[in-house]
Amino acid sequence: MIIAISKTMMQRAFKKTLFRFMEIPKPVFDGCFGIYIHVPFCLSKCSYCPYYKVIFSEKRKREYLEAILKEIDDMDIQGEAKWLYIGGGTPNTLAVGDIYDIVARLREKVQINSMGIELLPALLTDEYLKELKAIGFTKISIGVESFSDQVTKKTGRKITTYEHVRGLIEFAKSLGLWVNVDMMVGLPNQDANTVRDDIKRISTILPDQITTYPYLIMRRRQAFPSPSCSSKERFGLIEEADEMLKGYGYRRTGVWTFAVGNDIYDSSGDELIIDYIGFGPTAYSTYGGWKVINPELDVYVMNIADGKRMGFIAPANKASVDWRKFAKMIYDLKVDDTSNLPSYLKIFIRLLKLTGYIKHESLTGKGRFLAHEITRSVVEFLPSPVGNPGCVENYDEYSSYKVKGGYGET
Ligand SMILES: C[S@@+](CC[C@H](N)C(=O)[O-])C[C@H]1O[C@@H](n2cnc3c(N)ncnc32)[C@H](O)[C@@H]1O
Ligand code: SF4
Repeated sequence: MIIAISKTMMQRAFKKTLFRFMEIPKPVFDGCFGIYIHVPFCLSKCSYCPYYKVIFSEKRKREYLEAILKEIDDMDIQGEAKWLYIGGGTPNTLAVGDIYDIVARLREKVQINSMGIELLPALLTDEYLKELKAIGFTKISIGVESFSDQVTKKTGRKITTYEHVRGLIEFAKSLGLWVNVDMMVGLPNQDANTVRDDIKRISTILPDQITTYPYLIMRRRQAFPSPSCSSKERFGLIEEADEMLKGYGYRRTGVWTFAVGNDIYDSSGDELIIDYIGFGPTAYSTYGGWKVINPELDVYVMNIADGKRMGFIAPANKASVDWRKFAKMIYDLKVDDTSNLPSYLKIFIRLLKLTGYIKHESLTGKGRFLAHEITRSVVEFLPSPVGNPGCVENYDEYSSYKVKGGYGET
């Protein structure tokens, strides 16, 4: 009942966001901010993946690099970035030299304090890791998802062997890189025993952090085939993973994250609480009370070449920002400082304490299920204008740009 009420309230807050496709506002940052770079290329498309990507080609890569370097040149930013995170798509479809060009262009304007990147293991080599380290990356995230060939084949994902993953992680750690591995729970063909086996195998390699993502279905995004089990069962398997991972020295740092050591890295968590600027097609930014989202690759390349900076813009909606802060707090499994939350969420937290979801500032078992369901709702219902005409008041105008830009693929 409490879970259903909180999900309804949150989804209502998210539904209020309506975007307009228009010239983007000038960025304003005071204090600390983050930088996100979106690399939109993949070698193949995994059937479950909702993130924006197009199939890699050298021509598209050249156009993308030209556009993103110009986008950085034209952007009026300065100061100190707390983090730079390169995500995708598959960032390692770019050569390390291409990544260096992007980073160097940013460093002409801002000081960058920490750099992390997402990597597809099937395409990753020791040499690539060595070069990333040489240009200043300290943190990497590798998408393993499952070691089962039956699962991987069913989703069209590039196959990687356990031995290859083990070699990469051991080599990355020997270079002093901090390593997160993404595992997924509930993929097609991935039954409970396969999940248990996947978690056991990854824990024997001992990456610094393991993230166990339940299979999520984003609003109005095609994702198929459907999950192999219910959300509650996916949560149950993540709870089992907690028990198993304790035996290997991991502690739970979030509802879906487990780490050895004290250094934790949450690529998305910070995005909920500090302003950041995104570069590249479909990249998100939040600053100056605005939420800004870049267009898809074809429109992005065409507009930047024409000297235009167009994007989907919406005023940051206070209720949605507050719900995301609350979601971040319970994702971290601690509710110790509620001072920056509005009074209705403080009352809601009091109710959660009275009904046994929170005890001594920490989430209980049923509290963790609430956190799982709230986080799932935040991700699945986050308003996204790309491919969602209902979220954009002038989508026709955007479509007319798409016809001119025309890769004909999203
Ligand atoms: C966008 S991928 C980037 C890295 C690289 N392309 C790869 O696949 O390894 C980042 C992570 O998103 C997660 N992911 C993708 N689709 C998901 C879904 N439907 N639900 C939950 N997590 C998902 C996967 O764990 C994946 O490792
Ligand atoms: S999971 Fe990674 S490799 Fe697969 S389609 Fe998504 S971004 Fe590309």
